[in-house]
Parts: sequence; structure tokens; C-alpha cells
Amino acid sequence: MEECLTRSCPCLRSLWDRIFKSEKMNDGLERKGSNGDLRPVASEQDLEQRYKTLPLEDSAIYVALWAFEARDSDELSFDAGDRFRVVRRDGDWWTAAKLDSGGSVLATGVVPHNFLERTESVKSQPWFFGKMNRIECLSHLLTDQNKDGAFLVRVSETDNVGHVLSVKVKNKAKHFKIYHSENEFYVEESCKFSSLLDLIQHYQSHPLASVNKLGKPCVRRKPKQQDLSHTTVDMWELPKEDFTLENKLGKGYFADVYRGKWRNQTNVAIKILKNNESLSQKTFQIEVEVLKQLRHNHLISLFAICTSSTPYYIITEYMEKGNLLELLRSPEGNALDLEILTNMAYQVADGMTYLEDHNSIHRDLAARNVLVSEGYLCKVADFGLARIIKEPIYLSNETKIPYKWTAPEAMELGVFSNKSDVWSFGILLYEIYSYGAIPYSGVSNKDVLKEIKRGYRMPAPSQCPPFIYEIMQSCWSKQPEDRPNFKRLKSELHECINRVT
Ligand code: ADE
Repeated sequence: MEECLTRSCPCLRSLWDRIFKSEKMNDGLERKGSNGDLRPVASEQDLEQRYKTLPLEDSAIYVALWAFEARDSDELSFDAGDRFRVVRRDGDWWTAAKLDSGGSVLATGVVPHNFLERTESVKSQPWFFGKMNRIECLSHLLTDQNKDGAFLVRVSETDNVGHVLSVKVKNKAKHFKIYHSENEFYVEESCKFSSLLDLIQHYQSHPLASVNKLGKPCVRRKPKQQDLSHTTVDMWELPKEDFTLENKLGKGYFADVYRGKWRNQTNVAIKILKNNESLSQKTFQIEVEVLKQLRHNHLISLFAICTSSTPYYIITEYMEKGNLLELLRSPEGNALDLEILTNMAYQVADGMTYLEDHNSIHRDLAARNVLVSEGYLCKVADFGLARIIKEPIYLSNETKIPYKWTAPEAMELGVFSNKSDVWSFGILLYEIYSYGAIPYSGVSNKDVLKEIKRGYRMPAPSQCPPFIYEIMQSCWSKQPEDRPNFKRLKSELHECINRVT
């Protein structure tokens, strides 16, 4: 492979040498095997650990895993494969010098740190995805860009499992534990290898159980950026002129939503608030500042607000597949299997666990407020908005209250808590496993509370597994304290994923 690569592309010679040729890298790990393969002497887990704790040396070389386009003059554009030396580390945005093949500096600028990886790390192999549970793994493998046979190697989050080879087969994932002992890596007892790389190369040309052979490494999803650019990290009030509105995505009780662009470059969702006469600009800004601190992979990132004139704008990340309710009702949604449905429920529980841990209550959790992107990545949207947009939208106008999602104590007494969110999560589970049915169909909004108080609960949707229905029912316990918290729901759903696959 070395011969072939460096002959066809001489500029790769120095990168190759740096990665594979040194007897001892600066972390003291021997890497060179008889055929030049990556051959760690330390266990892979040690290796992972060591990279995490390595002192960040100025001489370390990084490689870009994706291309990045600069959005202002301080930022540095680069292509996947470009090499860097890091000059300064400042939160999520580092200053780095881009190097040519001889190691000379081509340009210096600000780069997103999560686009770079240390070159000498096993992590810079295109198929190595590091620590990842099977839910995240599925969301990577199942994107349309990956064909059958697409694969990745991940380090399981479950204790004692170690490395797992996950392969896409017929829009599902198959997972193989990679056994590892003293210099041996294997999936099948009869076929042992001295490195992870040898193992992968072998199965790229030989069948593995029901998998014909490994295809291309799973396409790496570019990390979604948490900010519009490094200059806006602490600037959450931005001028409206920076944003252009494109198509309308939806109409809500308190806002219309558009897809749009920031500075004609970055896709964003723009929520334009209605009725903001009653909202003081100051109160709004203070509340939004709190929301901006809430950051999690399964919560929509708030990028900015525009409040210099009415109507106010709320700018968030854009999610390509739109809201979960519409997705579930679409032909694409109708074809989703129990594994993906459960995976999506798990992701919502994960985002909600974060809110619970940060003492934040959603108050309007429902499938319409979960947004979906490539690979069925789900994010909870509109958390905290009910707190900001108090009257007249949420409380006084009878028709706008999400009766069918709201816990009885919140409905009757206005007592909202994480446990009232759990009730709503039970309804959201119902929506998921019924592929977007309207809850309590045939019962009017007005009668729902009466029925609930009399002890009525919805039956299981027709394709819902019994253990999921049990979870739903636990969310609908009359007493809030009898309902599970999100942490527990998350772990129960994790268990369910193993049962439905
Ligand atoms: N609809 C409402 N908000 C959205 C968002 N952030 N992305 C895509 N569709 C949306």
C-alpha cells in the first residue's frame, strides 16, 4: 500500500513516513511492524488513554479529517488531509499553522479543533471512530452516503467489550467484537492478526460471517458546529442583516420558522417570534443567555438572537430532516424499524437527561419539537422557550395549550417539573411507536384531563414491543414521584435497543 500510495501521490511520502516509519514516536510507543503496519505494543485502550493525557507538545502534527471553509479573515480554510502544527489552543477554536509536505508553514489561522486529529494516532485511520455506543454508531453508518459494507471500528462504551467492528448491511448494522490479547487481534478464533490494520485489510477481501466483505470506511460526519464562527462564541446578539431568509419550514403558535443563511454561507434555522409586544428586550436577552449555555449533542444549539428591532429572531442550527412528527408520518418514517425508532427515543432521553441534570424543564416536549438530521440524529428543540414566552401564548390562550402532552398536575395546578416532562416523554414514545398518530384520538382536548383523572391510559400502539409500552405506562404514573427520571429512562431504552436488535 505504501508503494502504491506514495508512487501515485508523492506528497504523501512525508505523511506516510511520519505515521508509520518511526521506530519510536514521541509517546514512546513502538509502531513499526515488519510490513510497516501500525502495530501498537501497548493495548489499544492504553493508547486511547495515553492520547487523552498526552502533554500537548508544540511539535505535535495534526491532520484534518474534513475540509473547512473560512468564514472570516482570521479563519483558515483547509482540505481533508492537510497537516498542521498547533500554535494556540483557545476553547473550541485553535490557532494552527498549515504545513506543506516539507513541514514549512503555508498559512496560519483559526481552525475548529474537532476537525483535527493527531497524525500518529490510530484515530487518524479513516475507519477508526473512537469511543462510541451502538446508537451513535448507527446514526453514522445509516446515512445515505454509506453503501452496504461500509464499516467502522469503535471502542464500546460498555465495560469490558473493547473494540467493535460495525458494518452496514441492508440498512442495518452488524456488530462484531474484536478480541484483543497480547499482540493479537481477532473476530474469529481461527483468524488472528498482529494489528488492527491487518485485521481490517483481511476482511476487505474476505467474507466475515453474514457480511460479504468490508466495503469503504464509514463516511465521517462533519461535526456540527456549536457556533456560527469563532468570532460569535460570546456574541449572541447579532445584526439581522447578517441573515437571509429562504424557505418557510413551519408555522408555530408563537413563531414561524425559516431556513436561512448566516452571511450567505452557513445554513441556519430562523425562528421569527410573533406577539413580542409583551416581551421586554432585556428579559428576553437574559433568558436566552441561560439557554445558550445548554449544550449537548441531543439538544438544538442556539446560535444567536436578533432583538434590535421587532420581530425578534432566534437563530439555531438547521436540521435537514425537519421535525420528528412529520418524519414519522412520511413514507421514509413509515419504513423505519424498531431499532431506529428506539434509537431515536434513546437520543431524546439523552438530551432530556442533560436538561434534568442542569435543572431545566422543557414544558413542551413532543415529537413536533424534536428535530432530525442525517443518520436519524435527533435533537430536542425549543427547550426553555415556554419560560421565556410566558403569557399570552402558553398560559392564557386555551387552544394553544398542548393538553394531550401535559401532565395532569401541570394542567391543573401549573406545577411543571422534570417529572411533568417525563409524562410528555411517555406521549412522545406513543407518537414514535405509532408512527406519528395523534394521541387520544377521538378524545377532545377538553376531555383528556377528565379521562386521565379517571385513570384512563392509552393502549399500546399496534407495533409497540411490550417492554416499551411498560416504559410508556411508567411515565404516566399519576404521582410524579412514581415516574422514572430521564437518567433511568435513558438506561432502560439502552437495554431495549439490545432487545429489539
Ligand atoms: N423546523 C423548526 N426548526 C427547525 C430547524 N432548526 N431545522 C430544521 N427544521 C426546523
